[in-house]
Amino acid sequence: MLKREQISKNLTSQEKEVVAKLFSFRQEHVFEYWNTLHKPEKTQLLQDLSRIDFSFFKLIKTKKKQKHHFSPINVISPPKTHQEKIDAQKAYLTGEDLLKKGKVALFMVAGGQGTRLGYPGPKGCISVTPVQQKSLFQVFAEKIKALEQKYSISIPWYIMTSPQNHIATELFFKKHHFFGLQNVHFLQQGIFPSLSSEGKLLLKDKNHLLLNPDGHGGALALMQRILPELHQQKKEFIFYFQVDDVLTNIADPLFLGYHALANADMSTKAVEKTDPEEKVGILGMIDKKQGVIEYFDLAEQQKKMKDKNGKLKYRAGNIAVHLFSIPFLQKIKKASLPFHLAKKKETIFKKNTFVQEEVFKYERFIFDTLPYAKKTITLMVDREKEFAPLKNKEGEKSLITVQEAQNHLFATWLEAKGISIPRDAQGKVLCSLEISPLYALTQEDFIKRFIQKSLALKKGDAWYVSEKEK
Ligand code: UD1
Repeated sequence: MLKREQISKNLTSQEKEVVAKLFSFRQEHVFEYWNTLHKPEKTQLLQDLSRIDFSFFKLIKTKKKQKHHFSPINVISPPKTHQEKIDAQKAYLTGEDLLKKGKVALFMVAGGQGTRLGYPGPKGCISVTPVQQKSLFQVFAEKIKALEQKYSISIPWYIMTSPQNHIATELFFKKHHFFGLQNVHFLQQGIFPSLSSEGKLLLKDKNHLLLNPDGHGGALALMQRILPELHQQKKEFIFYFQVDDVLTNIADPLFLGYHALANADMSTKAVEKTDPEEKVGILGMIDKKQGVIEYFDLAEQQKKMKDKNGKLKYRAGNIAVHLFSIPFLQKIKKASLPFHLAKKKETIFKKNTFVQEEVFKYERFIFDTLPYAKKTITLMVDREKEFAPLKNKEGEKSLITVQEAQNHLFATWLEAKGISIPRDAQGKVLCSLEISPLYALTQEDFIKRFIQKSLALKKGDAWYVSEKEK
């Protein structure tokens, strides 16, 4: 093994500092192939190494897994009583007023690697709509444009990418002329090094470290980084969502209104979990603080537990749609989110060859910000209207189910207008339906705008209504 002085020869003082850090953290094995590297390769390796925040090594040495006490969380359910309906109406109008005043910015996390989908590019580029084959990015862009038109505002849309997909994401937007939007911004999330079971840094090849994105929790630091510009624009809230759910009700006025009226710091939307095995996190109380209980942390018996109404006791399924109040983000600038560890098989470079090995990946999760919030609300929404994420190649939460969910939603809008839709015995829609967000964002908008009385849809038809339609 080379000595520190031998490696540091001919390096800049900054590079020398990086080398010294590696030695002091006993990670100098990453220089194993140093003498075989050309100058640009050496620079590349040093660049990777300089991206590591070395406090990471101290922070990950945290306590063992503790046993936690879980209990269900209070939620706001769809209104039933007269008073609840009045409250909902008030919340909706408050939310609309905040939107009109331009108080909201949007933050979407799209840095994930989409491993389960096996898609090589950014998930947002996947075509998902049933008729027009629009990409997730396009659907969101059209929803945002529709909001901008509806409220006569410009809404900043921040998109979090990762080093793996940043360039491809930007290129996709450029190719599509940002879908006509003027206020789109890309922010790259941070990285953490992947480690061996002995806590050692790993090489992807001779001159690259094995790094992974820092998880959607990386969004917290980025949101805090943009606070000065949001402050300047007099924004008060950040609406946070994930790239994978085509049905996301972006900047939903109802959610915004409830959040604002409650003076909440951070809020979350949930859907009712009815299948105990569904892989969604659960909004709940963890040791008396609100948070998300990951499905694998609930014991088998807890997963299936029912309440007195026969519903699952832990049923507030996290759809990862949040609202953040800007003063709250300011207040928790020093917050440090915990690390979550995952073991994954990866190809690494070791002993002069490529091998497959199980490695340790560290990530942070945005919902770990919840315990810092003094006040939070959890709004239960209708799954059929708002939650159809694309996660898997096949089976549940795959492209097929995502398209079925869109067909079903648009079918209900048409049925509300008295149009009959071909369905099978289980209620599955037997044709492809799509309504441009620029034609109607919600069922209410659709009912107002769609005046065509007769529409005969048959099994196998594909029907689309664009913004230009009367
Ligand atoms: C996540 C939530 C789960 C929730 C579900 C709803 C976790 C651990 N769990 O599950 O509670 O019920 O969503 O759909 O998150 N991302 C980044 N950078 C990263 C990692 C992820 O931007 O480093 C983004 C992805 O692009 C995606 C989102 O975060 O938009 C969610 O990531 P994913 O890994 O798909 O979360 P799930 O495990 O499905």
